[in-house]
Amino acid sequence: MKTEIYEVEPGQYHLEDYDQTYADFNWEEVEQAFSWHQTGRVNMAYECIDRHVDDGKGDRVALYYKDKDRNEQYTFHDMKINSNKAANVLKEAADVKKGDRVFIFMPRSPELYFVLLGTLKIGAIVGPLFEAFMEKAVKDRLENSEASVIVTTKSLVGRIPVDELPHLRHIFIVDEDVEEGHIDFHALYDKADEQFDIEWLDREDGLILHYTSGSTGQPKGVLHVQNAMIQHYISGRYVLDLQEDDVYWCTADPGWVTGTSYGVFAPWLNGVTNVIAGGRFSPESWYKTIEDFKVTIWYSAPTAFRMLMSAGDEMIKNHDLSSLRHILSVGEPLNPEVIKWGYKVFGKRIHDTWWMTETGAHMIVNFPSMKIKSGSMGKPLPGVVAAIVDNDGNELPPNRMGNLAMKKGWPSMMRTIWNNEAKYESYFLPGDWYISGDSAYMDEDGYFWFQGRVDDVIMTAGERVGPFEVESKLVEHPAVAEAGVIGKPDPIRGEIIKAFIALREGCEPTDELKEEIRVFVKNGLAAHAAPREIEFKDKLPKTRSGKIMRRVLKAWELDLPTGDLSTMED
Ligand code: WTA
Repeated sequence: MKTEIYEVEPGQYHLEDYDQTYADFNWEEVEQAFSWHQTGRVNMAYECIDRHVDDGKGDRVALYYKDKDRNEQYTFHDMKINSNKAANVLKEAADVKKGDRVFIFMPRSPELYFVLLGTLKIGAIVGPLFEAFMEKAVKDRLENSEASVIVTTKSLVGRIPVDELPHLRHIFIVDEDVEEGHIDFHALYDKADEQFDIEWLDREDGLILHYTSGSTGQPKGVLHVQNAMIQHYISGRYVLDLQEDDVYWCTADPGWVTGTSYGVFAPWLNGVTNVIAGGRFSPESWYKTIEDFKVTIWYSAPTAFRMLMSAGDEMIKNHDLSSLRHILSVGEPLNPEVIKWGYKVFGKRIHDTWWMTETGAHMIVNFPSMKIKSGSMGKPLPGVVAAIVDNDGNELPPNRMGNLAMKKGWPSMMRTIWNNEAKYESYFLPGDWYISGDSAYMDEDGYFWFQGRVDDVIMTAGERVGPFEVESKLVEHPAVAEAGVIGKPDPIRGEIIKAFIALREGCEPTDELKEEIRVFVKNGLAAHAAPREIEFKDKLPKTRSGKIMRRVLKAWELDLPTGDLSTMED
């Protein structure tokens, strides 16, 4: 297909000249925006919130929050007070200290953000979890991180297997009717002191722990440090194009790195008004959010755009979306049809951005000041050295497909995999190349083009799911002997999860059993990890050492050649 080119349209973005963007974008210089420039000590929550109050901008709206029951707004001054109170609660009732892991397991609400910022003010490390996580997913993460505190809700607390988590000392409940053994967050919060002495940190001190999936093993705890703020701030300014009077809406949940790096840090470091919408996705309510808050900058994901696209354009005509001036996407390949649709219905280009949990912030992007080659992820941030390398770390020339890699050392790079330094090391090849796990090529103009995952990681509706985690859950079901899980291409979700299952002796392969197994994963792990399709097989393809060959399952599914089968058992 011929690539469509979208030129920069004058009058929409702050910086419209790419050479100028390239010249201005300098992360050594942006450090001067932060207080540590004077003091050498830093705290993300201070830089996001209190700094703006100290700069005389305390009355600006920091947060518009809306869901079906609530519609609230908070200024930077309100956010400062509320996060101070949350910090006092955590410190006094649970003795939270610098470096402790505090997990947040609740649906979006203003309190979630107060607790997140309050945790950071103490110098503790935040671990945000998706509310969709079930017992096994919650347990793995709390166990691995040795978290001492979790803040949750009454309806979710039952999924925390307290007896199996010796390090977990305190459970805070943010809603009413708190039972014995749990701490009533609000009762303490209402009385909490509005002043708090922020813990000043080193730029290499811990910030946040995001668990993410790989193709093998348990989820990995990706640790980010305070220093990441350099990249959050600068990409917020030059990629999201955040200006002080913008109203910005990132649709991601804070359980996903996009919902923190770009749902909390980038907007507030830049002092803009941040819109948070709780509740489930619905096209109608999404358009209404843009209309009601006069959103100017909107950051979402291809799956969401595809769902909006399939909801029809009629709905768009019933809403005034004229406030929008900049739209961005992340998480999966952004299809050229989606860009075309966006251009037609919003009159705006959708800007793709590529990055990962591990990179902490944007790496390859379509700057507003760049022409968009539809289907391309764009170009590396100035200062990021990206290349396509072979499996030995040798750089490949343009237009050759290989591993998408970056030279180690950008400000927001993960600092370790929690409790698993070997895993961390395994990301790097000789020459200090960080290997992303994606395959791509670079064209002669320096634009990068995504080709796929190198490993078996599944990207479903923008969420990264490790096949191993799903397989492990599947084999816990009494009827399942073996399971192999793959991503199957899907027009809306990017991929769906498909499970191939060999049943135990004597189990009947019925549709009821399929449904039962699906629900088993949904209730035990997470709804988004439950296979949408299940196929029973007598036997699964395995290597002689007993590893399920997902590549063969995928080839069967897609009617592709199975490739080399020499390692397959007879
Ligand atoms: C995929 C998301 C194509 C990719 C912030 C990557 C993308 C993985 C894009 C990371 C994009 C992310 N085009 N693929 N613009 N952005 N991906 O850690 O496979 O949840 O390796 O972080 O998502 O997923 P993660």
